[in-house]
Amino acid sequence: MCGIFGIVMDREQVLGPVLVESGRRLAYRGYDSVGCATVAADGTIDLRKGVGRIEDVSVQLDFSAMRGIRGITQLRWATFGAPSYANAQPHLDSDGDMVGAHNGNVVNNVQMRELFIREGLTVRGSNDGETCVHAVERHFDRNGGDMLAAIRAAYADLEGDYAFVITHHGDQRLYAIKKGSGLVAGLGDGLSCISSDLPSILPITRRIVRIRDGEIVVLSPNAVELYNVQDGSRIQRPEERYDGPIEVAEKGGYPHFMLKEIHEEPTVAGELLHLLQSSPHVERFLGALTATGDRPAYLVGCGTSYHACLLGAYYFNQVAHRAVVPVLAPQFIEQYGESVGPEDTAVFVSQSGETKDVLNAIKVMRKRGGRVLGVLNVLGSSLMQQSDAYLPLACGYEISVPATKTFVNQCVLFLYLAYRLAGRNTDELQALPGLLAQCLADTDGPAREVANYVGKWSALHYLGYGITHPIALEAALKLKEITYAHCEGMFSSEFKHGPLSAVHDGYPVLFVTAPQDEMMMINHVNEVTTRGGRSIAIAAEHPALRSNVQDYLVVPPSNRFLFPILATLPAQLIAYHMSVGRGIDPDFPRNLSKTLTVD
Ligand code: AGP
Repeated sequence: MCGIFGIVMDREQVLGPVLVESGRRLAYRGYDSVGCATVAADGTIDLRKGVGRIEDVSVQLDFSAMRGIRGITQLRWATFGAPSYANAQPHLDSDGDMVGAHNGNVVNNVQMRELFIREGLTVRGSNDGETCVHAVERHFDRNGGDMLAAIRAAYADLEGDYAFVITHHGDQRLYAIKKGSGLVAGLGDGLSCISSDLPSILPITRRIVRIRDGEIVVLSPNAVELYNVQDGSRIQRPEERYDGPIEVAEKGGYPHFMLKEIHEEPTVAGELLHLLQSSPHVERFLGALTATGDRPAYLVGCGTSYHACLLGAYYFNQVAHRAVVPVLAPQFIEQYGESVGPEDTAVFVSQSGETKDVLNAIKVMRKRGGRVLGVLNVLGSSLMQQSDAYLPLACGYEISVPATKTFVNQCVLFLYLAYRLAGRNTDELQALPGLLAQCLADTDGPAREVANYVGKWSALHYLGYGITHPIALEAALKLKEITYAHCEGMFSSEFKHGPLSAVHDGYPVLFVTAPQDEMMMINHVNEVTTRGGRSIAIAAEHPALRSNVQDYLVVPPSNRFLFPILATLPAQLIAYHMSVGRGIDPDFPRNLSKTLTVD
């Protein structure tokens, strides 16, 4: 949620293209508004910002032409203050001497703004990024112009978790601070830069410095200096070299990243299975999962990652005969935070590795002395750094806001671990990439037809039974997320306990049905069809089930455990085609952000 980028050069030049490209690489963090600010060698600040996405706003306001010796870009996901020009970032201070931008939440924003107004500062909007700038301004004016001291004093005033970047027009440096939100710095020849995330830095330099909470960063063309915000002391940290791939956010001929990422699922599943065979962390995971004795381990996540945890629990139970507890991250704190202890293990699952709800839960687990395992896609993320052992999802960057390939690989990873715990031959899983590819080819056409039909409805249901219940929840989330229709995912046998009253002529209900559950599901199908509803099956070929439904998306034959993973694909495709059919860009659904670093 929100992305910031800043750069300091050794001489004035056209900075627009690098600011736009960095912003483009952070667009997944927020796209309610975007802005760039540059400071020329003579101290003139050029600030351009507007509501909308970077591709549009950057052209309208000609960001590419911006010149300067220092520059800042901000991508906003609105929390305090509706998307508007006044709330778009970066922000100026009262007299236009400073410019800055933030990521995160300043929770005492309202009180701080009231204070600024009483003190006579010029408050233009209601956004907490502006609050960060004024918080520095007021101490800067009082302490005779010491930026470092002003930022330290502002830190004491600002409550919440955030990171911000700021510069004064008369100072050759850029300043940043990290408190809870991600921040990484880069060092190049005659430049240094700072960003919420690595992808916007890697095209510029591979020399990086990771920033920790409570650190102030001072960036000049040839140095990245760190200071402790509490006592102002200098922190020495050697730079690292990052040799991982620079993923280029290109659609590769697909109309949307979402479709591209769905089509990558067979490949990334194969790569993950290959990696797991040789990962030293697998043994540590298995050891930690079994070290809890009779106590179950926890699988903790949010949103789509939580749905993978739900499926993981079925896998551990049905394949390895081991109970694990799937739980939403904030729920983990409330339900188990007082009872977990050193003998417990929790696996925290997060694509981004930066989800605040997950990091909050880790804090509780750490405080209680329990083991922290991580499953993540973004290497170097906070989750990776805070885990005793981690397993990567190996998906490459997932750009599209709806999680697709990372969900598939989370499920593959849990199935692999369950097989290993059960002592079952993991070679059986090698069929998965081929089956996923076949499933994509077989179900894309039928998924389009189903999307045409369900696209006319503003509400629908997805039902799953047992091992497919998590897929029904995930399918419903995906559909809601990118089509704006209401869709509820449920355990199919629960439907008759109330929601069945939603069914009337043609009402769409999709049944995700695993091998062996077909006869049970036929009961639930008929409860819908006899009341005029339209039943749509996602299942392997099964004549009896076929004769009871109106539409059938045929998933290739497989075993019961591979089925939920395969069935995910047609569900993702239905959501995708319905979204496009409604004229929505599935990559950037309204109101959302790929990385949620707020409470
Ligand atoms: C999935 O399509 C969503 N965008 C969302 O539910 C996401 O899975 C959730 O915010 C958790 O993110 P994480 O995996 O990065 O922690």
